[in-house]
Amino acid sequence: MIYRSADWYDQLYPQATLWAEQCFQLAQVHASYPPGAVLDIGCGTGHALTRFAREGIECWGVDLLPMMVEAAKIRCPTANIRIGDMGHLELGRTFDVVISLGSVFAHALTNDDVRATLDAMAVHTNPGGILILEMLNGSAVLTGVIGPAELSVRLQKPGVTYRGDASFVIDRRRSRMQLTRVWHRNDQIAWAEQSEIRLMMPLELEGWLDQAGFNLVAIADNAAMELSELAGHRLWVVARRRASKAPSVERTGQIGSSLHPCGSRP
Ligand SMILES: C[S@@+](CC[C@H](N)C(=O)[O-])C[C@H]1O[C@@H](n2cnc3c(N)ncnc32)[C@H](O)[C@@H]1O
Repeated sequence: MIYRSADWYDQLYPQATLWAEQCFQLAQVHASYPPGAVLDIGCGTGHALTRFAREGIECWGVDLLPMMVEAAKIRCPTANIRIGDMGHLELGRTFDVVISLGSVFAHALTNDDVRATLDAMAVHTNPGGILILEMLNGSAVLTGVIGPAELSVRLQKPGVTYRGDASFVIDRRRSRMQLTRVWHRNDQIAWAEQSEIRLMMPLELEGWLDQAGFNLVAIADNAAMELSELAGHRLWVVARRRASKAPSVERTGQIGSSLHPCGSRP
C-alpha cells in the first residue's frame, strides 16, 4: 500500500525526486526568483521541500498523515512542516510559490472539496505568486490512454518481490476513479487496497482555478510544458494568483500551454 510507511512510499515512488527537481525548475522560470518562501501542500516525505531548501529558500510543508510529516521533518530539518488538510489550511501567512505534487490535489473528490482546496491554495499564495500542481492526467484516464497496467507497481527488496496489480472503475457521474491494487508478495496475494481520486479535463481545471483567483499560465503533460495532445500520464499545471478573486477579464478559453510555452512569461 502506498502509505504503508514513509519508507515504502519512497521506494515505490522514486519519481518523487524527479518531480521535485522538475517543480524547482518550473518555479525558476515562472516565479520571481529566488522566491521568498515556498509552501508544499501534501509534502509527503519532503523531497520537494529539500530541493528548495538546498537553495536557502524558506520552506513550509503540510501533509495529512503524521508519518509523512515525521519523515519530511527528518529529510528536511530546516523546513517548517506540520500536519494539515489541504481543504482546511490556515497557516496565517502567504507564499511566493505554492506547490502540490504527486496527485495530492486529486484527493479533493467533491466540488466542495475542490473549491475549498483551491481557495486555501489561493489564500496562501501572494498576489502575483504561482501555484504548481502535478498529478495523474485525468483526461488521459477518461479517454482510455491510461489503463490499469500503467498504474500497477512493483517493488524489489532483498529476497522479496512485491507487486501491486491495479484495476479501476470510473464513476463518470462523479468524475472519479476508484482504484484497487491487489498486492502480491512473491506472487502470493498478500492484501488489497482501495483508493479514489477525482479526474478532471483541462478546461474544467482551468475554470476551477479561475474561480479561485488564479490565471492559468500553462498546462502540459510534461514538465518542460511543451505543447502536446495532453495524452501523457502526468499533468503539470502552472497558475498565477491574481490580485483579486474577481473573474479574469483575460480568459480566452484556450489552454494556457498553447499561449505561453515554458520560458515565455505572460
Ligand atoms: C502520492 S503522495 C505525494 C507526496 C509528495 N507531494 C511527493 O511528491 O512525493 C500524496 C500525499 O498527499 C497527502 N494527502 C492526501 N490528502 C491530503 C489532504 N487532504 N491534505 C494534505 N495532504 C494530503 C498524503 O498523505 C500523501 O503524503
